[in-house]
Amino acid sequence: MTILGIETSCDETSAAVVRDGKLLSNATFMQLFHSKHGGVVPELASRAHQKFIVPIVDEAFRRASVDKADLDAVAAVYGPGLIGSILVGLSFGKAMAMGLGIPFIGVNHMEAHIFSNMIDEPRPSFPFVNLTVSGGHTQLVFVKGYFQYELLGETMDDAAGEAFDKVAKMLGIGYPGGPLVDKVAANGNAKAINFPRPYLEGDSHQFSFSGIKTSVLYYLRKVGFDKAANRNEQFIADVCASFQTAVVDVLIDKLLVAAKKYNVKDIAVSGGVSANSELRRRLTAEAKINHLNLFIPKLDFCTDNGAMVAVVGYERLRHGCETSLELTAEPNLQL
Ligand code: KG4
Ligand code: ZN
Repeated sequence: MTILGIETSCDETSAAVVRDGKLLSNATFMQLFHSKHGGVVPELASRAHQKFIVPIVDEAFRRASVDKADLDAVAAVYGPGLIGSILVGLSFGKAMAMGLGIPFIGVNHMEAHIFSNMIDEPRPSFPFVNLTVSGGHTQLVFVKGYFQYELLGETMDDAAGEAFDKVAKMLGIGYPGGPLVDKVAANGNAKAINFPRPYLEGDSHQFSFSGIKTSVLYYLRKVGFDKAANRNEQFIADVCASFQTAVVDVLIDKLLVAAKKYNVKDIAVSGGVSANSELRRRLTAEAKINHLNLFIPKLDFCTDNGAMVAVVGYERLRHGCETSLELTAEPNLQL
């Protein structure tokens, strides 16, 4: 079975081909031009998706040495995300499936992030606990089996990636903030400033990152930081490292508490923030100490990509779940 997967829910135009569960290609256009606006501009994102969807799908076919006539199904994300952006990939995917007379499979973007650890071997075994940390979501999920999810906790305010992006903005280091904070933090002292760690009551599985973000803002105000004038590299690196460690401490603690409570052997992390080097380093060590098998996607599959969508499409098709062509975009789709 050969499946095309399409992802256009935010600012990546991406397509991938999976055959019998094996990834043949993944082609992504990252819309980096949003950086000059300090964040994703929805209208510009959907226009760019329209411009790049055909070349990106062609590129995915070329790299896989596959022709559209070889396809058995097309899968595309229908939510959550930016409505205009989703509609481009979804309409394209539905039209292609209809034109070829093959099944269409609508994919939940949050489910696709969980499947980003199932693109390659080794794959986690059910049941496992997955933490998805992206720009729009922070979700702790008990994955019982194929398409069987129990949402244990979410963020009550900012997503983890959003907090990284906002702190980077306060420091004037650019957009998207996550990879830049990660890079700058490498030269900083994580113990320089003690930002709060919001664990919330007891062994709560809920998250909250706006408090950490606000305490960074208050700290910068207290010391009179002016992002236009102050280019004290060491100071900026110390703030990045201290902030990053506070976020990573909370993420790791909550993942380990859930793993223990649900008595799983396998834990997984996914989403853009799973590319964070400090999170990857510390989680690898903690998993070892706690005798857990840790699954983190390759860097290409942490941020949004077509491969994770194609893998969901493959598994859904294999399990007999096809989607009606009536399906429409759902910007607030839940897991
Ligand atoms: O999963 P993703 O590509 O898109 C959403 O579904 O939201 O995640 C993007 C988020 C952004 O907030 C970005 O700053 C963050 O992931 N991110 C990182 C790193 N790389 C990307 N955050 C921390 N460290 C990184 N290395
Ligand atoms: Zn995402």
